Amino acid sequence: MAKFIPLTVTDINRTTADAVSVRLAPADGSTLPFTQGQYLTFRQEIDGVELRRAYSISAGVTDGTLEVGIKKVRGGAFSTWANENLKVGDTIEALSPMGTFHTPLSPDARHHYIGFAIGSGITPVLSILRSTLAVEPHSRFTLIYANRSARDVMFREELEDLKNENLTRLNIVHILKNDPTGIDLFTGRIDAEKLDAMFAQWVDVETVDAAFICGPESATETIADRLAHHGMDRDAIKYELFAAAQQGKLPQTAIRDDTATSTTATIIVDGTAQDVDVAPGETILTAALRAGLDAPYACKAGVCSTCMCKVIEGDAEMITNHALEDYEVARGMVLSCQALPTGDSITVEYLDH
Ligand SMILES: Cc1cc2nc3c(=O)[nH]c(=O)nc-3n(C[C@H](O)[C@H](O)[C@H](O)COP(=O)(O)OP(=O)(O)OC[C@H]3O[C@@H](n4cnc5c(N)ncnc54)[C@H](O)[C@@H]3O)c2cc1C
Ligand code: FES
Repeated sequence: MAKFIPLTVTDINRTTADAVSVRLAPADGSTLPFTQGQYLTFRQEIDGVELRRAYSISAGVTDGTLEVGIKKVRGGAFSTWANENLKVGDTIEALSPMGTFHTPLSPDARHHYIGFAIGSGITPVLSILRSTLAVEPHSRFTLIYANRSARDVMFREELEDLKNENLTRLNIVHILKNDPTGIDLFTGRIDAEKLDAMFAQWVDVETVDAAFICGPESATETIADRLAHHGMDRDAIKYELFAAAQQGKLPQTAIRDDTATSTTATIIVDGTAQDVDVAPGETILTAALRAGLDAPYACKAGVCSTCMCKVIEGDAEMITNHALEDYEVARGMVLSCQALPTGDSITVEYLDH
């Protein structure tokens, strides 16, 4: 099920003092198709521990390469390793690209898109931006990109080149928290007041067909709220989280009353079913991995959707869900890293993404 593909590092660039952009190609010479805004789940053993981490693809769909941008997180195992140890010629394994942070592109479309990126949240937004400009020659894009200071702007040169090549179709607004930009609106933190002023003076939200937001959860929520307040349909607002700041809305204790008994879960991976006992309070993913099943996962935090499976029989409730859309939940999909069975038995199937 969790089929990892060896990728060769073909190029590495230091895009800021604490972030690298990494180009990759399948080691067997094939190509790895992806949709703009998707992410790769890497698997790497560091200090004897297998880590899995998701990184959004920053390349456009017509660029003919895979590229990710990895920002070093203080004390972070994988991001520090990637920034300090990864080199050209290395092989690193990844699952096929996943994620639903995109809308369909069409060469005939005449759309106005807006992207909001905060810090390393630029990576999927850059992929969407690059792909849109390449595939939709009549569409235009406004990018609002917030960083602590000018030194922290990832992919700065690439963005300048894109702007120069698409003067009439691309508008980039940098917002810097610490560096004065000369314009109050573009200095400081993105908050509701700043967004309202921006939508009054710079961006007419009524002209926007779809919005893509990637950043910390609180800022993402504020941006989505203000866009909706200024008239955008919630369905046209897509967002991607790299980490969740808080637990979901369902308190774990309210999920199951009969916590004294375990559940028998029939877990189907690669078409083969196996019965596994799920202990009270244990997630389906934890039980599957404990039983030695090759179930896919990455963040284990309800953020990435790599562990998604379908409930065929029975019920499960998620502790938190930052990845699945309402229509996916309505179809019976759950994040197995967050899913607690609610009855005596359940059958779930991991489907190929
Ligand atoms: C869909 C998706 C896409 C993503 N795309 C990108 C991307 O394009 N670019 C990008 O840079 N990131 C991206 N991320 C985030 C990325 O997956 C990692 O979460 C991030 O790089 C940190 O991983 P790490 O192994 O370096 O840190 P971890 O080792 O997981 O540590 C994370 C934090 O926890 C702290 N910590 C770790 N262990 C402990 C402990 N025992 N006690 C207390 N604190 C601890 C660390 O100090 C650090 O601050 C994405 C995430 C998702 C879900
Ligand atoms: S492993 Fe990321 S949502 Fe479950």
